[in-house]
Amino acid sequence: MTRKEFILILEGSEEIAPSVKHLTFRREDGEAFSFVPGQFITLHISTPEKVLRRSYSIANSTHEPSDTIEFAASYVPEGTASDLLFSMRLGDKVTATGPFGRLTLRDEQPGRYIFVATGTGITPYRTMLSELAYRFKHHPCFKVVILFGVRKPEDLLYREEFTAFAEKNAWFEFRAYYSRAQLESPLPYEYEGYVLKAFSEIEPNPKQDIVYLCGNPNMVDQVFFLLANSYNFPSDIIRREKYISSN
Ligand SMILES: Cc1cc2nc3c(=O)[nH]c(=O)nc-3n(C[C@H](O)[C@H](O)[C@H](O)COP(=O)(O)OP(=O)(O)OC[C@H]3O[C@@H](n4cnc5c(N)ncnc54)[C@H](O)[C@@H]3O)c2cc1C
Ligand SMILES: NC(=O)c1ccc[n+]([C@@H]2O[C@H](COP(=O)([O-])OP(=O)(O)OC[C@H]3O[C@@H](n4cnc5c(N)ncnc54)[C@H](OP(=O)(O)O)[C@@H]3O)[C@@H](O)[C@H]2O)c1
Repeated sequence: MTRKEFILILEGSEEIAPSVKHLTFRREDGEAFSFVPGQFITLHISTPEKVLRRSYSIANSTHEPSDTIEFAASYVPEGTASDLLFSMRLGDKVTATGPFGRLTLRDEQPGRYIFVATGTGITPYRTMLSELAYRFKHHPCFKVVILFGVRKPEDLLYREEFTAFAEKNAWFEFRAYYSRAQLESPLPYEYEGYVLKAFSEIEPNPKQDIVYLCGNPNMVDQVFFLLANSYNFPSDIIRREKYISSN
């Protein structure tokens, strides 16, 4: 793990949903970037007052050491990092450190992983897909369910990738929850409401499940509270990453 600062050069910028960009950077020093699926990098953004730090989960589609670092950024109105990331042009540079974070797959064998995300909090799980497939090949005894909350169908990031992975792998279930859409003819994986609604249906069980929570801080707190209080989950089998700015 490197904690040394390095420079990233913007190589690609694609709007993948309203107000969300998938950004691809290359390290200026040409070094390959090694990370564990679920980790994040931190950008160091100079302002007249101080250097701000803003973190972004790595969104690469596999976790092989890579010469590019990708992440998805959601635009927060009047946000310092948002303004920078959404106005950068190809070739522009930004300073970063990382990788950091412990929202990662460990050497353990649960009966089921429950991965919960809102918004860009889905990217750690995108990066984990290839590792999950590898683990299932060698130990085909677990299930995975992803509960992904967004406002509307058009906000469902990486929809095709997750639905294709679910079609190919019977042990993997993908569920989308829309907080601001009324569905006339929902697809089999589409639901209305917050991700919290899923738990009465998927029957969480602390004896077999490990839960990962990533994204909106209120969602993370509410799901944690629900699992701890209604389903007796001890905190060590609920792993959390809250998307909040540090100062
Ligand atoms: C470990 C970690 C990983 C993260 N990964 C990602 C990621 O992959 N993608 C991503 O888009 N973000 C991610 N975030 C959030 C990101 O670091 C920034 O907080 C976010 O981009 C806002 O920064 P900003 O400088 O644009 O806004 P700021 O200047 O920090 O905030 C501007 C205003 O908006 C408010 N605000 C800040 N964030 C939000 C929000 N989410 N919703 C509503 N109001 C808000 C602030 O309170 C402030 O009033 C992550 C955060 C952490 C801690
Ligand atoms: N995504 C967009 O279309 C959009 C457009 C412009 C600006 N932005 C801004 O970008 C920032 C990030 O937006 P985002 O949509 O990526 O992330 P977000 O605001 O964290 O919302 C992601 C999803 O989580 C839901 N949610 C909120 N509280 C929850 C809770 N307690 N439990 C479960 N789910 C909960 C939201 O529902 P609700 O929001 O319906 O409560 C939404 O469906 C915000 O500042 C937002 O205002 C987003």
